[in-house]
Amino acid sequence: MPTQYPPINPRFPHILHGGDYNPDQWPPEIWREDMRLMKLANCNTMSVGIFAWTRLEPEEGKFDFSWLDTVMDLLVENQGYAVLATPSGARPAWMSHKYPEVLRVRPDGQRNKHGTRHNHCPTSPIYRTKTALINRKLAERYKDHPALLVWHISNEYNGECHCHLCQVAFRDWLKNKYNGDLDQLNQAWYAAFWSHTYTSWEQIEAPSPIGEPLLHGLNLDWKRFVTDQTIDFMRNEIAPLRELTPNIPITTNLMGFFPGLNYQKLARELDVVSWDSYPVWHTTGSDWRLGMQVAMIHDVNRSLKGGQPFMLMESTPSNTNWQPVPKLKRPGMHMLSSLQAIAHGSDTVQYFQWRKSRGSSEKFHGAVVDHVGHEHTRVFLDVSELGALLQKLDPVVGTTVRPEVAIIYDWENRWAIDDMHALGRDVERRGYLQTALSCYQPFWTRGIPVDIIAEEDNFSSYKLIVAPMLYLLKPGVAERLTRFVENGGTLVTTYWSGLVNETDLCFLGGWPGDGLRELVGVWDEETDTLALDDRNSLVTSPGNELGLSGSYTIKDYCALIHAEGSRVLATYGSDFYAGRPALTVNDFGKGQAYYIAARTDETFLNDFFGTLAGRLALKPALPVDLPVGVTATLRGGDQRRFVFVMNFNPAPVTIDLGEATYRSLVSSAMVSGQLALPAYGVEILE
Ligand code: GLA
Ligand code: ZN
Repeated sequence: MPTQYPPINPRFPHILHGGDYNPDQWPPEIWREDMRLMKLANCNTMSVGIFAWTRLEPEEGKFDFSWLDTVMDLLVENQGYAVLATPSGARPAWMSHKYPEVLRVRPDGQRNKHGTRHNHCPTSPIYRTKTALINRKLAERYKDHPALLVWHISNEYNGECHCHLCQVAFRDWLKNKYNGDLDQLNQAWYAAFWSHTYTSWEQIEAPSPIGEPLLHGLNLDWKRFVTDQTIDFMRNEIAPLRELTPNIPITTNLMGFFPGLNYQKLARELDVVSWDSYPVWHTTGSDWRLGMQVAMIHDVNRSLKGGQPFMLMESTPSNTNWQPVPKLKRPGMHMLSSLQAIAHGSDTVQYFQWRKSRGSSEKFHGAVVDHVGHEHTRVFLDVSELGALLQKLDPVVGTTVRPEVAIIYDWENRWAIDDMHALGRDVERRGYLQTALSCYQPFWTRGIPVDIIAEEDNFSSYKLIVAPMLYLLKPGVAERLTRFVENGGTLVTTYWSGLVNETDLCFLGGWPGDGLRELVGVWDEETDTLALDDRNSLVTSPGNELGLSGSYTIKDYCALIHAEGSRVLATYGSDFYAGRPALTVNDFGKGQAYYIAARTDETFLNDFFGTLAGRLALKPALPVDLPVGVTATLRGGDQRRFVFVMNFNPAPVTIDLGEATYRSLVSSAMVSGQLALPAYGVEILE
């Protein structure tokens, strides 16, 4: 596994800094002014053409690239580069009007009208032909253009279409998956339930609120199909680009934990991962907790391609108009949140948007250039200050981090958990994502790097794998976890693990199933769900080998487990299952497997994972104690290693660096002893 990757495009071995740019909305005088401002803002890239189809093909088959030619040439004249988009995210009105099949059909069977964006059918042969054609024209035109750096495919792919063409494609997908055998499908979906058995393929329809929303196997396969059909559509978009510009890297912008598409699968199609980040800074009561969530998403994006640097494709330089509270970023936050992306493996800081649009729904969305039109604004200054610093970060480009810890956060597992019909109310608060996040927190607060991986990913490079709520076990996963532990790895898993197989059929014969029971040495008999205010306690066993003491608060879920050869480290404090095991460890081969049977508060998770981190000697980015709300990350290459220290508190902090001496990439000064960071301050140490 490399520690040093080439730059995203070796023609530009620097951090990309720029934003979504819509010259198609402005007259040419403004383009020239934009170039002047781009240089003043220390920006070097513009993402162009994202929603520009109508300007590129104003009438069917009549193309006009003259304006884009000028913009691309202007970029080159001004030492700028283009992230060039394919325009399929929004289509011309003439197309929807002439070919209604390009428009999406809703789950209730109604076809949408022309409008908004992301409103297309991924199956429509006409839409596929049209997108492939415009993409080919773009590639032919700009394949040798010195401004072209990266392809930006469409925009934030999302949504699903229920039209006749998509239903037929779904049936074909199913025939392929189930070897043309309807019995196999009926069994896999448990279709005998409520007399759902299908007797011909034509009877199968996509899940729908006015049809069948409750067949869990169908729901899962439909979501898989939606991902595969989106990928298939994207491949059709990509084909002419690969053919004509084999050396230009390809990305599409993702949306964090967006559940609609399995990003862990989609990312395999891309040369580089990119994502759009819009945290609701300063509105949740704790910026450091929010910062931790964003950190986890950055880590997902880095992990999607096994540690390869990613792109922060969109972020706002100031406010985000569609949020419940479109708050301005407080002084320092722009620098901090941008460098946070770099700290976790991004090689770019890009914005939505470069220039505020004059009309329509995004006219009050933050932008580098405001309606006032000049550079003398607070936000412009923030951006150019950041840009100046990014120019010093060339040595960071292409470096990565090789964590010793991975958390399994699997998209398909999330789909299954979201559809479980057993978690009770308030799933937002006590569901899968929150649980994974609560396991991430103890590492973030210690500055211990973490990968966020899928069930399919390779486990062998980690010392510790945390697999919270590993509810759906894909084929072979329990087996691979067993090998991991046998070979000396440490596994932590929890309540609600190993319950169903790949099509959501429960494992019979005792949970966790598929061999996980032997690995953890636990039979998980049943689960008690607590009311929102109910509490139990996890009472540590005297003299337990982890050295944990006292008791911890339990909420939400208590699994009633039997230790089958595993050692009991803690028990329940109350209720009819008081005294029964709540935390166990099992020796297996050269490693150990822990089972946390109940959902606890963060104090337990902090102490438990802190203890494990010590025992496994997990290396933090900075070998010192970090104050609350402060974290550190590491990016290292073949030669050099950089530590990013970030203060997410609205107040200054001081960090004791111990004996070591570092060089600051920010100020070039030597740093040792006490490191003082202002509110939302950040430092980069080598
Ligand atoms: C998304 C889109 C952008 C823009 C921003 C606004 O990320 O990709 O085109 O609409 O949201 O926050
Ligand atoms: Zn369709």
